Amino acid sequence: MSPRVLTTAAELRAATIELLGAAGPGPVSLGLVPTMGALHEGHAALARAAREENDVVVATIFVNPLQFGDPTDLERYPRTLEADVEILGQCGVDLVFTPSQEEMYPGGGPLVRLSAGRLGEKFEGEYRPGHFDGMLTVVAKLLHLAWPAADAAYRAYFGQKDAQQLALIRRMVRDLSFAAEIRAVPTVRSAEGLALSSRNRFLSEEEAEAALVLSRALRQLDQRASRCEPLELDSAVGMVESQPLVKLEYFEVVDPETLEPLAFNCRETPFTGEGLALIAARVGSVRLIDNQPLKADPAGGQD
Ligand code: PAF
Repeated sequence: MSPRVLTTAAELRAATIELLGAAGPGPVSLGLVPTMGALHEGHAALARAAREENDVVVATIFVNPLQFGDPTDLERYPRTLEADVEILGQCGVDLVFTPSQEEMYPGGGPLVRLSAGRLGEKFEGEYRPGHFDGMLTVVAKLLHLAWPAADAAYRAYFGQKDAQQLALIRRMVRDLSFAAEIRAVPTVRSAEGLALSSRNRFLSEEEAEAALVLSRALRQLDQRASRCEPLELDSAVGMVESQPLVKLEYFEVVDPETLEPLAFNCRETPFTGEGLALIAARVGSVRLIDNQPLKADPAGGQD
């Protein structure tokens, strides 16, 4: 069924109250799926997860200028509203909120914004200054605008693909006492292993092939981690750097919550516990990010 498409906060509130009322009596829940559109299977996985776990599902489509440093990047961000609504309908989304710039930021950008702090300055933050402040500011607004009611369960869905974004949103919700529970959905990949991204459409065939080295290197670390072997991060870095079309920006193994590098665990010593491998690279004109949660499995390989 086609979802209802709404453009104002007032319409969203009225429709949410109506649908939650119809879903009751008894405990009700709302799942929120924030997106910037240009949807692919990764977004569909978020919407499906929200559909499975909630009475009412709201997806938002808003290309947030606050999180783009480069105006050309903002301009060329794909806008595919009709196809997006179709995908969301197939996933069983009830309401699609597509506010205008003026609806979200009346009179221009907001004067008061959130700061991602130190966690937002490293990795992506180094390459995209201010990106996470803008992202958190819009996510905070969207969480407020779709808030169901004090007695309804409230869950918001984000992809593991954007691991630093996810860590920051979790931290914002904890630090600023937001009502929503944050649910992470695993990264969706192409059959060859490339993490799906709205930007992949800008890769040539040759670049898309070259980009596979990112997921190959992450898989190598994943295998070593689960076997409690030294990760030999330097050799994985070398593998990526040997691909001429790929310009590596960072490749690090970090603590999943604080994103602090795991100093020795990732090189010569056997891997223990958990970690998160983060990678970013430029392939042609496209910046790609990917990551892999790592977990030692001491029982693995034993009968
Ligand atoms: O991941 C995205 O698409 C965006 O950063 C988000 C969370 C929708 C905020 O604009």
